[in-house]
Amino acid sequence: MSSTARAAVTTMDDAFEKMLDADTNADKIIPAFRRNAPLEPGPALVPVARYISREYHEREKERLWSRVWQMAAHEDDFPNVGDVVPYDIATKSFLIVRVAEDEYKAYYNACLHRGRKLREARGKGLPELRCPFHGWTWNLDGSLKVVPCAHDYNGLKKDEESLPEVKVGRWGRFIFINPDPDCEPLEKYVGDLDTHFEFLPFERRYKSVHVAKIIRANWKVVQEAFMESYHVLMTHPQILTGGPNDLCTKYDAFGNYSRAIRCGALEAQTMPEWEPLPNDNISRLRHPLTGWLYEDLGNGRVQVTTAKGETGTFTSNAEWIAGDLKDANPHLCLWVSGQQLDEVRLPQPATADELQKMAAEKLGEGASPRAIGAELQRQALKETLPTMADDIPDVELSASIFFTLFPNWHPWGSFNPINYRFRPNGDNHEECIMECMYLSPIPEDGNYTPVSEIHWLDADSDWTEAPELGMLAMIFNQDLRNLPFVYEGLKATARENLRLADYNELKLRHFHKLYGEWVGDA
Ligand code: FES
Ligand SMILES: [Fe+2]
Repeated sequence: MSSTARAAVTTMDDAFEKMLDADTNADKIIPAFRRNAPLEPGPALVPVARYISREYHEREKERLWSRVWQMAAHEDDFPNVGDVVPYDIATKSFLIVRVAEDEYKAYYNACLHRGRKLREARGKGLPELRCPFHGWTWNLDGSLKVVPCAHDYNGLKKDEESLPEVKVGRWGRFIFINPDPDCEPLEKYVGDLDTHFEFLPFERRYKSVHVAKIIRANWKVVQEAFMESYHVLMTHPQILTGGPNDLCTKYDAFGNYSRAIRCGALEAQTMPEWEPLPNDNISRLRHPLTGWLYEDLGNGRVQVTTAKGETGTFTSNAEWIAGDLKDANPHLCLWVSGQQLDEVRLPQPATADELQKMAAEKLGEGASPRAIGAELQRQALKETLPTMADDIPDVELSASIFFTLFPNWHPWGSFNPINYRFRPNGDNHEECIMECMYLSPIPEDGNYTPVSEIHWLDADSDWTEAPELGMLAMIFNQDLRNLPFVYEGLKATARENLRLADYNELKLRHFHKLYGEWVGDA
């Protein structure tokens, strides 16, 4: 690991502070938003071996997964006492059990007779844990209940055959486990993470979506694609609002977690203005910076037209078919002519006139697009949160705020429901399980139905097969257009190290700093 001495990192702190001062509900902003915690320079170089070598995977099993706090489940996974959820990490497997109304335990998922996994799938309302091989049975509290033909086990003492437990910690309705009996308490490990969620704590959110997918890349490759906004410029240009030269994301690192706040334009930046697109049934998109138009021609073909009128026809995979234009953005080709979500139309941006009209009605003349966007969301939230909607600050509604609690859990800020978890796919370090959960606000009327099952997608599925994700499924398809190729590139590269940016990749630098401390280098 190399850490190069360099000047202090340039941050977005001042511009962000000005944005907070201009917030419609500035007096309601929680103090955590005004905390700055820049990361000192380095590490900027990361060994490629951390992602591709089996040796690191083995080190992770020994030094990380067996010792670190990890988010294993959520209370909504357990509607009833006796509900059981397996949590697998590399070669280890644990059973999380709701043993009483407000008590959870976690056991090694292995029978004490001849070692069969006690359960390979979730269980609902179980009165006991019975091994499917020969029937040894434990009470939910882990004490041994029944041994068939017990007379045959000379000297077996029932009270010495309770299921071995691992530590359980709870934070914001999430259930964490730690296999290390000597670990520090979860409260100490997460530190003051809760101060960032004071406006809408996780205790007031429920799990409304849970999708898991196998991806052919190391878990760190995949999670790092969700820890910066830098890739939006190339991979998701259709969501750019922050001007051509700056992605306007504030990054900070605190203890075992890091934070990104993507704000759209923080400083006065002007986006180019293009002719509005017709609102018809054709899947069509304009690159907001270059003005290039991407139009679906059907049958997996896309017509791309540059701002100067040059055109080319491409496959949805951006392979050239015909025309003078020979190269196009693969992510936008995929967006307009790849797999679509049946019931979701591509959003057409509101015109400047419409925005002005809303501004005059809701917030008075001169309101910013950010304030107007936040106001629209407040109106929408009034249905579920009638008493709090009007008080929500713009920043809680308009910014994408994403945290990483080392090593692999990524809760998003309060009114954005996204949560991610990434882990190796069993003992295969070349594949991972990516999970996306939505943690939505619990409606004030108490009327809601959480999900307690996972919707699984295999490695060859398209994210749109999980339409409950909404437009995020389309965004994920763009990310997946990169990730297996990032992994293949890492195996092909001539270099020994990757190079991380000082600021835009601060969260990755923070992760690799902690990873170095926990896992070390081979
Ligand atoms: S292995 Fe579980 S009862 Fe025999
Ligand atoms: Fe992305």
